Amino acid sequence: MDCSILRKKFNESLFDIYNSEELNIIFYIVMQNLTNKSKLELMTSNYKLGNVKEKIFYEYVNRLSNYEPIQYILGNTIFNNLEFDLDNSVLIPRPETEELVDLIIKHECKKEKILDIGSGSGCIAIALAKYILRSNVTALEICPNAVKIINKNASKNNVEIDIICEDLFTFQSKSTFDLIVSNPPYIVYSQKYKISKNVLNFEPHHALFVNDNDPLIFYKVILNFSKNNLNVDGNIFFEINDIFHHEMIQLVSKYQNFSYKLIKDFHGKKRFMILKKNT
Ligand SMILES: C[S@@+](CC[C@H](N)C(=O)[O-])C[C@H]1O[C@@H](n2cnc3c(N)ncnc32)[C@H](O)[C@@H]1O
Repeated sequence: MDCSILRKKFNESLFDIYNSEELNIIFYIVMQNLTNKSKLELMTSNYKLGNVKEKIFYEYVNRLSNYEPIQYILGNTIFNNLEFDLDNSVLIPRPETEELVDLIIKHECKKEKILDIGSGSGCIAIALAKYILRSNVTALEICPNAVKIINKNASKNNVEIDIICEDLFTFQSKSTFDLIVSNPPYIVYSQKYKISKNVLNFEPHHALFVNDNDPLIFYKVILNFSKNNLNVDGNIFFEINDIFHHEMIQLVSKYQNFSYKLIKDFHGKKRFMILKKNT
């Protein structure tokens, strides 16, 4: 069956789940995966799928219509121009987190020893190890399955990082770092009803949610850890939930040796906080 007919069937099956822009992106991701052709080649020729691939195409459409994210269906995604394997033990890396990595890469500061807390697929840790020359990156992650994925992704991208499978809340280390980064779970359970089915039914809840009674608990523990484990002049980069940015300011104001800056993401939401340890 040729590409234009497949496109029509794809849109008809999924229009009530995805908007037209998303449908366009996902269609070409699926077709590129099945054909190994570039998007341009697919757009400029009326490409046909044989019977076997057409069957796979319809399996994908069926899974997409059950709200399964395309990244889990294909088992991979692109993050900061690098390819990462995924399964549903790890969060799908978000474009906002790509922005966080870009912020770190561009920020003028010491970045020799880096710690990524709550590493998931390893996207932040591995992208930093890849793009920051002479960096020594450690990834901390509580979930053993995620740790397997981090290992895989590190070899896939030819980087060496240290991986620690431990709970942040009991983690102790004699090492000190120049830079600590974290995108911890930051959605409160009471906001669960706002989360779309493709996230709620497929992404790991231990990566998404934090208890309502202490939504900033991860940030507090990291700030306390930083008292002894972040070098003077070192930086912390946090991804945050914009609805808690006032509370974040109140929290970091209690740590008098830190100065901070809030940065908006491409949606204009207060999404990142950069802290500097002054003494
Ligand atoms: C929001 S996800 C971020 C994943 C990845 N860094 C990213 O940006 O895509 C948070 C991660 O923190 C991990 N995590 C949750 N609780 C943790 C804990 N107590 N100690 C260490 N990691 C934890 C989760 O398993 C998850 O992988």
